[in-house]
Amino acid sequence: MGGQFLRVLFLAASAREAFASCAYGTHLQPRAEGEVKVNTFGYTGQIGPLNWHALDAANGACLTGRQQSPIDMVAGSFNMIPSSELALDIPDFTAGTEFENLGTTVEVIAKGGTLGFGSKSFTLQQFHFHLPSEHLDNGTSQAMEMHMVWQSEQQEIAVIGLYVQIATEGAAPVVAAPVQTVERRGRFSRRNVELERRQNGTVSAGAVAPSVLLETVFSVADAITTPGTKVETPPLIMSEVVNLLKANSFQGYMGSLTTPPCSEGVNWLVSTARLGVSATSFLKMRDIIGFNSRFPQNAPGQPNALQFASTGLAVQNSALSGVSFTPNAATGGATGATAV
Ligand SMILES: *[C@@H]1O[C@H](CO)[C@@H](O)[C@H](O)[C@H]1NC(C)=O
Ligand SMILES: *[C@@H]1O[C@H](CO)[C@@H](O)[C@H](O)[C@H]1NC(C)=O
Repeated sequence: MGGQFLRVLFLAASAREAFASCAYGTHLQPRAEGEVKVNTFGYTGQIGPLNWHALDAANGACLTGRQQSPIDMVAGSFNMIPSSELALDIPDFTAGTEFENLGTTVEVIAKGGTLGFGSKSFTLQQFHFHLPSEHLDNGTSQAMEMHMVWQSEQQEIAVIGLYVQIATEGAAPVVAAPVQTVERRGRFSRRNVELERRQNGTVSAGAVAPSVLLETVFSVADAITTPGTKVETPPLIMSEVVNLLKANSFQGYMGSLTTPPCSEGVNWLVSTARLGVSATSFLKMRDIIGFNSRFPQNAPGQPNALQFASTGLAVQNSALSGVSFTPNAATGGATGATAV
């Protein structure tokens, strides 16, 4: 019903136009110096995630991929990875770091940072934000999600996901004053008291203070309310996030970009930590970003969720944890389940 026509229209409109996305700044979407490329995909309607595959021939994985992201982070869909298995180092960024509005997200262009994971070594390219969170924390969405996008020399991609929740009034700053000089048995030593508290489990997981990094980045967001604009940030203290990540663990799985072209082979590392954002900053960023969350994909290895929808395939509850995946029409519902 006009679908083919719309498809042609969109292909023509997007012909050879680079899709800046979550992969912006990587080999998949190199940054053009000096300009901010506004995305042509979106999150609702004809340009939304139900139709990303039709926007460009390169987006096929969005429709058929079986390792798509984001997912619901439930037990069994990820491996717990202690932060000690990662070699994480991000320098503080000097003033003048670029903060851009790509239309579909707002993004900070990194000034360095390395991640050693397994035998691979990645360099931090950028970090950007989704609202609400794309991954679900055991079925629950969070206010926002920060994605730190890393690329190796072999052009592999790793993304660290960090949930952002509304900060609790009066909560202790997360790592604002991380190191204290204390006297112990007559000797002075430096301790990261906050880190110890977290490791000791004495910080309530529900209470977080506003992140100094987020508040600093978001403080200049008023200058980039229009897609295609950019602004320079004040100095960014990255150690806050690095310490937080190191004091927690990661939920790892192999997934994809959460934006077109939905390329797979992405090493996902979703932190068990939380960053806080003040209610004021959250409301400001909500008004700028609007909504930019791809719907949760099926568990890794399961058929793409769009395949269920487009072909009316029968889905049993067991199909999502097992292997059963039978066309309903062809078998008359041989799986014994009603298509949902
Ligand atoms: C995840 O949610 C399920 C169902 O609500 C619950 O039974 C389970 O304990 C939760 N797991 C964690 C790790 O919180
Ligand atoms: C964490 O636990 C250790 C061992 O019990 C204790 O010595 C230390 O003081 C605790 N740190 C904090 C910040 O509570």
